[in-house]
Formats: sequence, C-alpha cells, structure tokens
Amino acid sequence: MVVASHAPTQQPSSEVLFQPIRIGGLDVPHRIVMAPLTRSRARTPGNVPTELMAAYYAQRASAALIISEATQVSMQGQGYAWTPGIHSREQVEGWRRVTDEVHKAGGRMFMQLWHVGRISHPALQPDHMLPVAPSPITPAGKAFIENEHGEGELVPFVRPRALDLDEMPYLVRQYARGARNAQIANADGIEVHGANGYLLEQFLATGTNHRVDAYGGPVEQRARLLLEVVEACIAIWGPERVGVRISPLSTFNDIQDDNPEATFSYVAEQLAEYKLAYLHVINPAATELQTGQPIPQRVEKLLALIRSKFRGVLMMAGGFTRDTAAQWIEAGRADLIAFGRAFLANPDLPERFRRKAGFNQPDPKTFYGGGEHGYTDYPSLEQELGTKPRPTVDTSWR
Ligand code: PHB
Repeated sequence: MVVASHAPTQQPSSEVLFQPIRIGGLDVPHRIVMAPLTRSRARTPGNVPTELMAAYYAQRASAALIISEATQVSMQGQGYAWTPGIHSREQVEGWRRVTDEVHKAGGRMFMQLWHVGRISHPALQPDHMLPVAPSPITPAGKAFIENEHGEGELVPFVRPRALDLDEMPYLVRQYARGARNAQIANADGIEVHGANGYLLEQFLATGTNHRVDAYGGPVEQRARLLLEVVEACIAIWGPERVGVRISPLSTFNDIQDDNPEATFSYVAEQLAEYKLAYLHVINPAATELQTGQPIPQRVEKLLALIRSKFRGVLMMAGGFTRDTAAQWIEAGRADLIAFGRAFLANPDLPERFRRKAGFNQPDPKTFYGGGEHGYTDYPSLEQELGTKPRPTVDTSWR
C-alpha cells in the first residue's frame, strides 16, 4: 500500500510568490524584490544619479520593492569608481528624479545607505586621505578606481586609518544625513547596508575589529555602531521605513569572524526590538541553492536561529530561482525574496515568473560602468514578443 507521506513531493506552486504582504508601512502585491546592485553609472564629477538610472529603475517598477544600488553617505564612504552618493544637493536632486520615475511607473523604492570603510583607496577619498576602518588592517584584494585616463583600474588596497573614538558620532551623522536626504529625495524608505564586509560589518566581525574601546571587544560593543546607525535612521524615518541588510558567514571583502553564530544571533535579537520594515539576509548557501546541493547544516542552523530571533518580515537574497523562492516562502523560512542578476537582465521579472516565461541572460561585461547597453536595453516580454525574436533565453531561474 502506498503511504501518502512517501508520495513524491509535488512541484512547488509559485502562487505563494504572488501573495500580497505588508512591508513596514507599505502594502505590496507580491514577494519578488529587486536586490541592491552596484552598476557604477553615476555621472562624474559628483557621483550624481542620471536620467538613464531613472529609466533603469522605472523599468523595474513591478518589483514588490526596489532596493537601490549601494549609495555612499559621504565622500569618505565611497569605495568604487562611479557609484552614486546621497550627500550632495545635486545627488539628492538626481535621486528625486529616479524616485519620481519609479513612482510614476507604480513602484516603491528604498535607498540603500552605504559606507565602505576600508574597502576603498586614497584615489577615491577626499584629499586622497586614507580610508577609515575600525582597525588598521589591510584587506586582501584590490580597489576599483578611476585612473588618470578616466578608465576603471584595479589597485591593491591600502592599510586604512583606524577611526578615533571621538569620530564615531560623526559617522552616525553621515548615515543620518543620508537618511534625511533619502527623504528629501522622496524615497519610500531606507536600507542600512550592514553586509558584505563594508564599514558596519567591519565593526561586527572580530577579524577586522581589534578595538579596545566601546566599539570593540564583545559582540555588544562590536554591534554598537550598527545599532546606533539604525537608531539614527529610525529617528528620521520611523522603524517601519527602515530595513537592514546582513551577510552572516560571508567572507566577501576579506571578512572573518570567530563566532558568527553568536554575532548574528545577537544582531537579530537586537534588531527585532525595533520593529523594522524588514531584515534582509544574504543567503550563505547561495551556491548550494544554485547547484542543487544540500544546504550545509551550519547554514540551516544559523538561518533558523535568525528566523527565531527576528519575528518580523524576513527578506532573503542569493541564488534563488522562482521555485526555490516559492519553497522557502512556503516553508516559512522567508517572507520576501530579492533577485539580483535575474532582475538586472529581466526588467519585468515578476511577470516572467507569473507566466513561467523564459529569461534574458545577464551579461557580466556590462555590470559595472558604461551606458545603456546591458542596462536599459534588456527587453521585457512584451517587447520581445511584439517586435523581434527573443534573445538568448536562459531558463536557469525557473
Ligand atoms: C560592489 O560594488 O561590488 C558591491 C557593492 C555592494 C555590495 C556588494 C558588492 O554589497
């Protein structure tokens, strides 16, 4: 006799992806978010958002939520050539044109606030000063700068300058100014970038934070800057318009932590107190998810721990397909799924998921820098079906 519980698992229905949800103060129609993506197309001098950027984001307005590319809160916070900022009047005006276009197209947009800390280079810093960090530890790897010919170039990282204790309030104010500017720019909220080895994670992780003052040592002190920044942003926006992004277990940008379980358990627990719009977690098992390998036990455990500590809206990003996104939401492991490369190459990604259509392939050569090509010229399904034969179709996100 066939026992029901031994029946093969059914193909997950993607219906769950199309259930509405409330993200803080916003009602959104489905669960498919556009992840923050560095595209390095701001206008220089000044790192100002352009009309082309407005067109790019407006094309993607059918996302449940657009999270802007990482946007530096100060000149000191910049780590790559041509990334946009949100600290000058011109930048704020540029972002306002972006959010206007997104809103006109029916979308919603949070601005991601970014300070890169040591992941920078004097060539990108005001007066060619040293980048700042919790401790003077040189990251492995290279910085992406603009050389004297106006071209992108990779140069080795330098040893950063350790921040003085009396500079810390100034750092928090850089984020607060970014948060305020995002309001003037008519964004719908902000996301604090606490991930990927940038400044806030440099403070969180034991490998990059050797401080012996109130911002170093035990996790309560290493997390102090992140929490102060979040509180400063909440003071401006209210908690329901503030999200936070973290990347547990990631080693990106030469990050290393002695006890990520303790670090992220504490962070999730503390962030839960604020009743944020959402917590955004970069999936440490993106590769396994993509290749169909089992999720490592350690990752499973840590994600379950974060989920148990943070009871609010949880967004996950990294390596998801339509089916795995639906599975994770169905299983209660996430409420929203953010798509990066898939959204980059498919401006109408939710519609393609809904119709189980094919996908445009993203072209890594056009990810960073350049103009329209590989940016605003990926066709929607409608454009594809109505005018020309479909370009290369890749079904790997299905
Ligand atoms: C990048 O510019 O390469 C970049 C920016 C922000 C991230 C990750 C990578 O979170």
